[in-house]
Amino acid sequence: MPKFIIKGGNILSGEITVGGAKNSALKIIPAAILSKEPITITNLPNIEDVDRSLEVLTDLGAEVMREKDSVIINTSKINKNELSHSMANKFRGSIMFVGPMLARFGEVTFPHPGGCVIGAGGRPIDLFLDGYKAYGAEITEEAGYCYKIKAKKLKPANFFFPLVSVTATESMMMTAVIIPGTTILKNCAMEPEIEALANYLNSQGADIKGAGTPTIIIEGKDKIKANKFIVIPDRIETGSFAIMAAAANADLKITHCNPEHVMALLKIFEKIGVNFSTGPDWIQIKPSSSPLKPHDIKTHEYPGFATDLQSPYVILMTQAHGTSLIHESIYDRRLLWTDMLSQMGANIVMCDPHRIVVQGPTKLYGKRLVSPDLRAGIALVIAALIANGQTEIDNIYQIDRGYEKLDERLRLIGADINRVE
Ligand code: EPU
Repeated sequence: MPKFIIKGGNILSGEITVGGAKNSALKIIPAAILSKEPITITNLPNIEDVDRSLEVLTDLGAEVMREKDSVIINTSKINKNELSHSMANKFRGSIMFVGPMLARFGEVTFPHPGGCVIGAGGRPIDLFLDGYKAYGAEITEEAGYCYKIKAKKLKPANFFFPLVSVTATESMMMTAVIIPGTTILKNCAMEPEIEALANYLNSQGADIKGAGTPTIIIEGKDKIKANKFIVIPDRIETGSFAIMAAAANADLKITHCNPEHVMALLKIFEKIGVNFSTGPDWIQIKPSSSPLKPHDIKTHEYPGFATDLQSPYVILMTQAHGTSLIHESIYDRRLLWTDMLSQMGANIVMCDPHRIVVQGPTKLYGKRLVSPDLRAGIALVIAALIANGQTEIDNIYQIDRGYEKLDERLRLIGADINRVE
């Protein structure tokens, strides 16, 4: 199993480019099923979750032609309506195939999706199942934690999400695009990836209004076309690099990003004394001579502070002068990783599964660690970059799932990081 060996303390400087967003790519790939025409996706990140997603499409019978950071997908010859267990079990994004397959074939069988275990009892899919039922589908649960969803004829729905969910919003939105009639979705998630998906589908003949707001109204069509989609910049990678630079007191320009998508973080940067400036598609972090101030956060759905940036932010607070409260409101196991940070020397008190108190500043020391999931993994990398001594991070598959060639890119800005088998 490959791991990272990181020697901390190097000065980081230069430029780092943000890749295409994992959580946009993982939705546009399944959206290819909504049309029989080929789609070209560019700015596609070369990450494990994208590989898995394209494998699922190939297994279904689609033609997938991949080149560097783009792919052409033709789903006209898909000949299966069942997702492979071994493939779908590997990542949460596999659930995104279900809505488009149901809409196109009226039937789909799939296992409970895998992915990062960051919620109590795994990550539920009840919102998806309730949504498909609202479209007139019948659901049977089969042996092996597997579901069969079938509809004689799908009908439009008026559906209220009892919880705000990114992927459930996207799934219901995609399905409704080819169910003729008016679907109204309420209490929707508002993440930029949802708006990007809706804009693309609209450019191909769909009629979606309100994506990026809590109410989405879809006038379903018989069919839509397909053409070109450019994956939007990854806002979590943007925020991770910005936090890394601030924690390391680096002089770093983060390019090919959209600063508007990390506004909640940048507003906090202003308060805690991070020295930064922004342009239309870049963020420049400069070293600061004054100490970082502590600042409490509570994670929130977009446009609030992203749960996916909670773990890097905790590292930043270990370097701030004072006490900060981190409140993780979306997932109830997403602070457990901080135990590893305590082993590195951080002063952290867990109040309950949703809240920790961080007392800074503390020196961090290199350790042997195992990455528990993607976002905790990047946080451990940042911790290792500013720590005294050498850190070994095992299970970096979890980091490769979302950050393309992280070691190569970090070496280019001065980090001492190596991948060893
Ligand atoms: N939830 C339910 N039932 C459902 C679905 C969700 O109870 O059927 C709960 C979850 O357990 C959680 C809350 O609703 O407590 C919100 O979860 P959400 O559904 O919004 O998360 P998601 O759609 O599964 C996406 C991203 C996550 C990101 C969250 C929150 C993708 C593929 N994943 O997940 O990204 O943390 O939104 O912003 O888009 C990551 O990239 O590392 C990652 C985990």
